[in-house]
Amino acid sequence: MDRLRIQGGRPLNGVIQIGGAKNAALPLMAASLLTDNTLALGNLPHVADIATMIELLVELGVEVSMNGQSTDMSRANRGSEGRLLLLSARNLVSGTAPYDLVRKMRASVLVLGPLLARAGRARVSMPGGCAIGPRPVDLHVAGLRRLGAEISLRDGYIEARAPGGLTGAAIMLPKVSVGATENLMMAACLARGETTITNAACEPEVLDLAHCLIKMGACIEGAGTDSVWVSGVDRLGGAKHKVLPDRIETATYAIAAAITGGTLDLIGTRLDLIRAVADKFRAVGIELTIRENGVRVQHVGNRLEAVNIQTRPYPGFPTDMQAQMMALMTVTEGVSIITENIFENRFMHVTELARMGADISVKGNSAMVRGVSRLRGAPVMATDLRASVSLLLAGLAAEGETVVNRLYHLDRGYERVEEKLAACGAVVERIC
Ligand code: EPZ
Repeated sequence: MDRLRIQGGRPLNGVIQIGGAKNAALPLMAASLLTDNTLALGNLPHVADIATMIELLVELGVEVSMNGQSTDMSRANRGSEGRLLLLSARNLVSGTAPYDLVRKMRASVLVLGPLLARAGRARVSMPGGCAIGPRPVDLHVAGLRRLGAEISLRDGYIEARAPGGLTGAAIMLPKVSVGATENLMMAACLARGETTITNAACEPEVLDLAHCLIKMGACIEGAGTDSVWVSGVDRLGGAKHKVLPDRIETATYAIAAAITGGTLDLIGTRLDLIRAVADKFRAVGIELTIRENGVRVQHVGNRLEAVNIQTRPYPGFPTDMQAQMMALMTVTEGVSIITENIFENRFMHVTELARMGADISVKGNSAMVRGVSRLRGAPVMATDLRASVSLLLAGLAAEGETVVNRLYHLDRGYERVEEKLAACGAVVERIC
């Protein structure tokens, strides 16, 4: 298993290229199942989750090529050149998303809606829980049933059928769910009649998916708000679409600048994607300024101020930035209360940060972080994607050496992280 070794205490200064959003790319790739034409996706990040989704789509019969060459898994995993992915679901050969793939990546459930809408049947393994919580899919299933699907849960699989096709319906999501909104929006595109999804997720990745579906011929209004309207069409065509910048990668590297006292130019991204995070950064004492092709992040003043954080669905503070913000709060002046409102168990990074000298106490879904003057490097264990990058951030600020183990968690969502950081002055190396 790969590890990262970091010698901390150096300010980061330089330029970092932000990639396409993993959490936009995954539903966009699933959308290729909705048409027998070719979907061309640009600005794809080379991260492990993308390779897993390629593996799943290929298993279903989708022809996938990157920059025109056929994509075998090793190339996709090795971060081969180019970021253009061509997907063609002309001949679907299977309707089953198997357990060994779904357990690797929960987002595999996003093939359920498109498969059902296109082929009238789907068999998708229940994703099971993961480190941050049980991660049920009851909202996906209930919504598809509203669209007329017959769904049973058998032997750990979701068995779904819609032999006569899907029928539009009014769907009210009792809880905001990004994945359920995306699955249902995709399925509704090929349903007969109109569908409304209320209490829909408003994340930019949902809007990006809708933009792509509309290019493919879908009739969608209101995406990006909490009320989405879809009028079904008989078929969808191909399209070309560039994946929007990764707002979580953007905010993560912004914290890398702040926690090391440096200045970074993050290019290929937009400040409006991280408004809630930017508001908190300003209160901490981190200045964000718009540059011609991105955002400049610099740490102004002397010490950073502690702030309180409540994670909320977009446009609130994103849960995917909670662990990274906690790393920053461990070295600020004062006390910060961080409350995780989205997932049940997203404090796995707390004990590892404590090994580095952080002063954090957890009660229920809240963590109280008392700032310390300096963290000390230590060997730490990654447990999930965002926890792992939080430990890396702490290691960049800590005195001495930090080794982050189980790097496969980090590789799921961050592309070439050690290269990007080393180019800005970090002393970090991957130990294979
Ligand atoms: C997406 O996950 C993201 N993943 C997550 O990013 C992100 O943290 C999450 O949205 C919330 O913003 C992708 O887009 C691939 P949800 P998703 O459905 O869709 C509960 C990362 O680090 N729920 O919005 O799975 C659920 O348990 C990942 O990049 C149900 O109860 O999240 C959670 O408590 C982590 N029933 C809440 O809703 C359901 O059927 C929000 O989950 C579905 C969800």
